[in-house]
Amino acid sequence: MLSPLYSESVIADRVREIAERMNADFKNADIVHVIVTLNGSFMFAADLVRQLRFPIVMHFAGATSYTGVERKQLRINAEALPPSFGNKPVILIEDIVDTGNTIGALRQMIAERFASEIKVAALLRRQSGGGKADYYGFTVPAGLFVVGYGLDLDGRYRELRDIKTVGVTTSTAGDARNLC
Ligand code: IMP
Ligand code: MG
Repeated sequence: MLSPLYSESVIADRVREIAERMNADFKNADIVHVIVTLNGSFMFAADLVRQLRFPIVMHFAGATSYTGVERKQLRINAEALPPSFGNKPVILIEDIVDTGNTIGALRQMIAERFASEIKVAALLRRQSGGGKADYYGFTVPAGLFVVGYGLDLDGRYRELRDIKTVGVTTSTAGDARNLC
């Protein structure tokens, strides 16, 4: 049972606004590294990077988080990242920031690899989730689990053009996160 939350056109407007802000912030950059967290960010990243007007190098990092009843495991596959970003800026693209654990772990890895600055672009952030982003599209009300536009529930719904809520709360949908 899915309910509409953000339509395709509303998402497109917000992605354009994020791209415009980035284009202003990085207008003088000679090169910027962009890291896409997989799998959930693939659609947001594809739409965002096509609107950037400064030179980028793209990288992809797998991030898997799992919320059990009493513990949370986070695994990051950063093998594909370069050992050094050569003192250049890094933009991290994330689908949704909840607790901020995923972004926090990646930030630390990037900081150890000589980035001049690290910015986070998240399409969504969960209200009262605690995580922070420098650019974000929407604040998802606490307790809602969302799918579509790259985000999944048990591997389903990534292909949807808009974002919908599933009829479960985040506390009961936690085991879907190992597919993020
Ligand atoms: P964090 O590490 O707690 O910030 O969790 C962020 C990760 O959990 C994201 O990269 C998502 O892949 C996944 N996630 C959190 N909430 C949702 C949701 O509502 N739908 C789909 N994936 C989610
Ligand atoms: Mg993710």
